[in-house]
Parts: sequence; C-alpha cells; structure tokens
Amino acid sequence: MSFFNRVFYRQDTAIDADQRERPSGAGGLVMAGRVFRPSIWAVGGGKGGVGKSLVAANLAIMLTRTGRRVLLVDADLGASNLHTFLGIEGASKTLTDLLAGKAADLKSVANRTLVPNLDLVSGAQDSLDAAEYAAGRLCAALRGSSGYDVALLDMGPGTSPSILDLFLTADNGILLTTPEPTSVENTYRFLKSLFLRRMKNILNGQEAGPSRALLEKALQGRSLGEVKTISDILAKMKTPGSDRQNFLGDAQLSIIVNQTRSIEDKRIGPSMMKAGSDYFGVEINHLGDILFEDSVPESVRKRRPLALHYGSSGAAMAMEVCLKNLLSRDGRSRRGRA
Ligand SMILES: Nc1ncnc2c1ncn2[C@@H]1O[C@H](COP(=O)(O)OP(=O)(O)O)[C@@H](O)[C@H]1O
Ligand SMILES: [Mg+2]
Repeated sequence: MSFFNRVFYRQDTAIDADQRERPSGAGGLVMAGRVFRPSIWAVGGGKGGVGKSLVAANLAIMLTRTGRRVLLVDADLGASNLHTFLGIEGASKTLTDLLAGKAADLKSVANRTLVPNLDLVSGAQDSLDAAEYAAGRLCAALRGSSGYDVALLDMGPGTSPSILDLFLTADNGILLTTPEPTSVENTYRFLKSLFLRRMKNILNGQEAGPSRALLEKALQGRSLGEVKTISDILAKMKTPGSDRQNFLGDAQLSIIVNQTRSIEDKRIGPSMMKAGSDYFGVEINHLGDILFEDSVPESVRKRRPLALHYGSSGAAMAMEVCLKNLLSRDGRSRRGRA
C-alpha cells in the first residue's frame, strides 16, 4: 500500500516501471552537519501554493530571535517572490549572479533586510534555463558559506533532479503540505522521487560503503520478481541485528501541514509520519499544523510579515511551535553526530 493511499485510500502502488529501469544520474550528497558551515534547511514539497515561501520567510525571522544569524535563499528558480513576503523590493544582486559565475559566493549576493541578523539572497529573475545546472553550484556555495548559523532555502515546486539534489543537501528538510488530497499526493511523489534520486546517486558510485553494497544486494531480487516496491527494497536492505536504516542518510525530514481547517485535517500529519516510516524507512517528524487564517493573505497583501506584524495570530503562533519542535530535534541530532 502506498504512502498516499495509506493516508487516503487503501491500495498498493509499485515503483513506476520507467524509474525502476533508469537507476542512473548524478549529484553528490552531503548530509552530515558540520559545525563550521551553516546548518542547511530546505523548505520544499511537490506542489506550488501550499505556503513554502510564507513559512520559509517567517521561520527565518523567528530564527533570528533565537540569536542565530540567518541567510534566507530564494531558490525557487522559476517564480521567486520571497522578498515580497519580507515586505521588501527585489534586489539588484540576485542568485543569477552566483549561478552565472559573476559572483564568487553567497555572501556577496546577500542583501541586508530590515530584520537584524537576517540576510536575503533574492531569487534569480530570468533563470528557468539556469535551473538544471544551478543545483551543483548552489550546493557548493552553501557548503562553502560562512558567517551564518542557518542557511534557509525556499524551494520551488516539482521533482526535477536539481530540486531533489538541493533538498538532499539539507541537514533539515522541511516538507510543506496542505490537507488536500492533491497536495498529499504530491508530497508522496516528492518523497518517492527523493528516494529514487538517492538510489541513483548511490548506484552511480557517488558513494561507496555499506549503503551501496546493501542496495545492490537488495536490487538483485528484482530479476527474481522479489523487489517491486520501495518497501520491498527497504525490507531487503534490513541488516540482521539492526533496525531498518535511514535510507536518506543523516538528514532530518519534517513535515508541516498548512492551511488546516477542521479536526479531520489534524490526522494528516500523524498519518504521513506513519506512512513515511512504513514506505520509505525514514522518520518524518510532524512539526505541527498551521490553521487557514485570513491574517495570512492579509499580511501578504500588505507586505507586512506575519512574524513581525501579526505575532499573536494563530498562524504565527503555530509556526513558533513548529520552529521549537524543529530546534529541539536539530539539537538532538547534532549532539548525536558530534
Ligand atoms: N495558513 C494559511 N492561511 C491562509 N492562507 C494561506 C496560508 N498559507 C498560505 N496561504 C496563502 O497561500 C499563498 C501562497 O503561499 P506561498 O507561500 O507563496 O506558497 P508556495 O511558496 O508553496 O508556492 C499565500 O500568499 C497566502 O495567501
Ligand atoms: Mg514559493
């Protein structure tokens, strides 16, 4: 039974035949947190209009209040609008300059905002063509950047290789969904694409070691018809004496359900958490739910950030809870890795 169907219906889904037959691709993965570069957080998900930019902008503002220096990066290469969520104009220096090789690093395209300790790299304005080569360059720039505690990426929708590789670079991957079946379905697809991308990268020899050996062993079952679904692969990858390994590495994966309207909607987060563990072998941490509220579009229309001007709204308070949950897990995982 698939992740999506587990949440909504009750049927089974196999890995798409075309994806099963093309286990190749590129893109290095670095997931372990290192203290001398910023912790990389990515806010993503398969669908547009679910609230990724809204949450990225407001989480960034809230993060600065914890004493952290934050670099917010508008990585939505097709429709950058993060500056609007912060109530500022588009900048003259943008991500385009970095992607086109006109700027050496992220710091030199970062612009100060009105919020202390919050800098913004505005999105590329004209760069759909740049999207495919952007990931590698941006990943390298993120890993090489200094002077910030957190680099927070606002991602575009979709499951292109560049988006998946960027997301896989993150120490904290935050998935945004709404309770609508279409949004949950896209989240499932996004997770499945992440899994397959990771599989391609491992098989391409980007990483040697236990994961590759286990994966190759698991995939041997394909010719015998034993491996048809992602759960089959995970089952085959289980090593004796150890629990199912986290196939996505050390990255923390979290989910926020945005625009909830009913008690019924509250079951989406826990269901996705459970289904994520069952079907992808990854722990998905449900950070919280954000209510659908009129204050949100009002804040966007007035270009007055929720975290600054609507701090007592239910939506802003819910985001505070999400951040608190995220930070408590981030601290635990960093201690665990040290
Ligand atoms: N909790 C919410 N309540 C009401 N409206 C919301 C909420 N979250 C998002 N929206 C609306 O959805 C619009 C799209 O959000 P946005 O962050 O741009 O989505 P994405 O970045 O995922 O495409 C926002 O401008 C806002 O008006
Ligand atoms: Mg957006």
